[in-house]
Amino acid sequence: QPASVAMTVAADGTGPTIDRDIFGQFAENLGTGIYGGVWVGEDSPIPNVRGIRSDVVQALKELNVPSVRWPGGCFADEYHWRDGVGPRAKRAVTVNGSWGNALEKNDFGTDEFFDFIDQIGAEAYISVNMGSGSVKEAADWLAYMTADRGTTAGAERAANGHPKPYRVKFLGLGNESWSCGGAYTPDYYVDEMKRYARFARNLNLEQQGTDNPAGGSVAGSDPMQRIAVGPGGLDTAYTEAVMKAWKAHDWSWSIEGLSMHNYTWISWPPPFSSIDFGEREYAMLIKDTLKMEEMIRVHSAVMDKYDPDKKVPLVIDEWGVWLAKLPGSKDGFLHQQNSIRDAVIASINLNMFVRHAERVRMTAIAQMVNVLQAMILTDGPKMVLTPTYYLFKMYVPFQNATRLPISFDAGTYRFGEVSVPRIDAIAARGADGKLWIALTNVDPNNAASIDAAVAGIRARKASGTVLTASRVDAVNSYDKPDMVKPQPSAAKVIGGRLKVTLPPKSVTVLSVME
Ligand code: AHR
Repeated sequence: QPASVAMTVAADGTGPTIDRDIFGQFAENLGTGIYGGVWVGEDSPIPNVRGIRSDVVQALKELNVPSVRWPGGCFADEYHWRDGVGPRAKRAVTVNGSWGNALEKNDFGTDEFFDFIDQIGAEAYISVNMGSGSVKEAADWLAYMTADRGTTAGAERAANGHPKPYRVKFLGLGNESWSCGGAYTPDYYVDEMKRYARFARNLNLEQQGTDNPAGGSVAGSDPMQRIAVGPGGLDTAYTEAVMKAWKAHDWSWSIEGLSMHNYTWISWPPPFSSIDFGEREYAMLIKDTLKMEEMIRVHSAVMDKYDPDKKVPLVIDEWGVWLAKLPGSKDGFLHQQNSIRDAVIASINLNMFVRHAERVRMTAIAQMVNVLQAMILTDGPKMVLTPTYYLFKMYVPFQNATRLPISFDAGTYRFGEVSVPRIDAIAARGADGKLWIALTNVDPNNAASIDAAVAGIRARKASGTVLTASRVDAVNSYDKPDMVKPQPSAAKVIGGRLKVTLPPKSVTVLSVME
């Protein structure tokens, strides 16, 4: 008999909007994340549209991906955008020094990136090169992307096939500048950041902020958001320096986001395997994931000090499970499998972001295809959707939903030294008007029986899906792509109460109808 868990959902309550940007993705020029995973080239036998593989695009469209961060990561600080525009045959061939010294033929550059995000219906999050580039290089790139075709930069873009300016919704001002992005001290970073924030301008009138080139105060209808480098651990030095500067900013520059990176990895280099593991590794990585809560709490407290009205979002633009590379895969390609464990971990992370939705308004999981905690794995023409892909698909109804109060007795899952909450849950009023509940049972051995009061509505019916597997290390492979796939949930409403049994190591997403 599964243990019973009492729960109350305030369907008539209210809360902040769960910004759909929380479900963003990161796609770096790294390993086969882009080359092979997204880009196969126009002459490939793999079905593609202008070189971008159609199976991957089709799958990503179903996730309603809000934004894609590109070209890095560490690679962004060695990327020179001019290498990747114009006729492909004439593009520079360079070396990806950050990731395995792979040959970078620059076939996938700015115009290919915008074609890709257009095909999947996402917005652009461009990271400019603050490490080995210059303010002028970044400003020129912005001009190429956003200026009217009447300018020289816009005319060059038009000559490359894109007369209309692109939309750059988010601009990353460097990446991990405390490490691979230049190892800057916080104060040095802040001085540089101000120059980039001032001069790397979006020239698309709709996307200009109050610091437009005329120095006036007329903001466009949809201003670009500039995201400063923030913390990658519990050290608050960058958070302090950037937020202190933000508080004192004048009309000439600003930022509209502070980045934070946090991976689930136990220690460096990541010791755990993505395949053939047991309950110990499962339990330890679940525990390691919970450090995200402390990261958000510690850095939000610093942000609150300078920005009590929460104007600046905390942008967690790198998160996910970072495991040892798959045997036989190349060094520096960060290629790993993806199991039911990773989907459970993604749900725990997303639930934390939702609980902090007032401050956490954008994130990007690392990374979209073939790299780290990927949605999709490819091998030549083969493609497989991972458990994390299905988890993201199940969470689509939470995009731009209104968070609702939910309370429950989480209980405890124990293994050896590990002791973590057994049940996790969030509730929201979807943009579709429906009540949505996500329920995670972390315990890999025991089911849990949920008995939920749904306050404020006369609940009559519930339906949804559940993602689970028989083993903690269950994965989808090219041979067996359906090992971890959502199945219909047997949730019921009896006497106005929601009743559902959560299988061990599972995530269930339900809509409850009146
Ligand atoms: O996601 C892989 C790498 O992790 C990124 O390039 C870097 O920013 C981080 O250290």
